Amino acid sequence: MNRITPMPAEITATETGLYVPMKSGVPAYFNFYWLRDNCPTSFNTTTRERTFDIFELDAEPVAKRADVVGDELIIEWVSEDHVTHLPLATLEAYANGARRSDPADLARVAWYGDHYPDVTRFTFDALVDDKANQEAWLRAMLIEGISVIQEMPDNDQALTDLVNLMGVVRPTFFGNYFDVRTHINPTNTAFTAAALELHTDVPAEEFAPGIQFLHMRQNSVKGGLNLFGDGVAAANDFRAAHPEDFRLLAETEIPFYCEHDDYDMRSYQRVIELDHHGEVAGLTISQHMLDMIDLPQAELDAYYPAFCRFGRFLQSDKYIMKFTLQAGECIVFDNHRIVHGRAAYSATSGERYLRGTYADRAEMRSSYRALVSEGRFKS
Ligand SMILES: [Fe+2]
Repeated sequence: MNRITPMPAEITATETGLYVPMKSGVPAYFNFYWLRDNCPTSFNTTTRERTFDIFELDAEPVAKRADVVGDELIIEWVSEDHVTHLPLATLEAYANGARRSDPADLARVAWYGDHYPDVTRFTFDALVDDKANQEAWLRAMLIEGISVIQEMPDNDQALTDLVNLMGVVRPTFFGNYFDVRTHINPTNTAFTAAALELHTDVPAEEFAPGIQFLHMRQNSVKGGLNLFGDGVAAANDFRAAHPEDFRLLAETEIPFYCEHDDYDMRSYQRVIELDHHGEVAGLTISQHMLDMIDLPQAELDAYYPAFCRFGRFLQSDKYIMKFTLQAGECIVFDNHRIVHGRAAYSATSGERYLRGTYADRAEMRSSYRALVSEGRFKS
């Protein structure tokens, strides 16, 4: 029943909303609750927060009259002395139920084992106080997932200062920062001189940290080449070569753990992570934190061969950069995308000290958006 009178011919009302003509000429449907809730008066332009609370409405919102005037849809409401002026551009943006446009939602570019000369690099000084360089850095992190910051000051504060250019330090159950060097009583393979297999960090946490920072403070040891590979490149190729294996790894949760005397961290993760476009966003893989897989044994007949095929696939020289991170360099990488490892080294041949920490991907995206746009309140 049409409860709105009079109504211009081009707008059609239903019990629940309006059909409003779009630029394409095809009318699009908008729900009355949505139209009322997103009246521009619902937002405080100073705090930028929503100040209207739809829970406070006495009656369900229904339009008494609706007109397109100029570039606005103007709505009078049945139960409220309130007039809504909605820009048609806003309606166009929400007409198809698509996610809000996001400047940080950039297509990833896969890279391969020969990428090292082309890795995005900035000096520490070039980033500090230079918004254009910060924007370029974060864009590279979003697209390629890796960068190297050179000429880092040889102190603890420099690492924190670098993190703060994109977000805040994200603690893990190891604390705010971690130090990687030879320990006399190792509790983690990273503290020994043994090789470290390709992995992403801390998958035993419910939400593994998103961005990893490794600041090489000293490195005069023999051996110990750093290994870095793009999980997106490997997983995309694997998807084409072994589609059924890929599906299993993208859909099946397997357990990870990390325990010692006073902690027992556990989680379930998918080895291949897809984003909301269905594209590969990254990987979660760590043989030293993989728990005993507790799937029904019959499912393992397919899962284990797929898992092993991918683990070996990923180790190919095609995907892995091998280089020595120099003292004064900090490698920054997406911990949900980039696998990293280390060849064995001799702990008696020199000094090796790596200090690391994390930030979250959401913080980085937020910083990038703030650098490139003014969000919803763009003038
Ligand atoms: Fe690691």
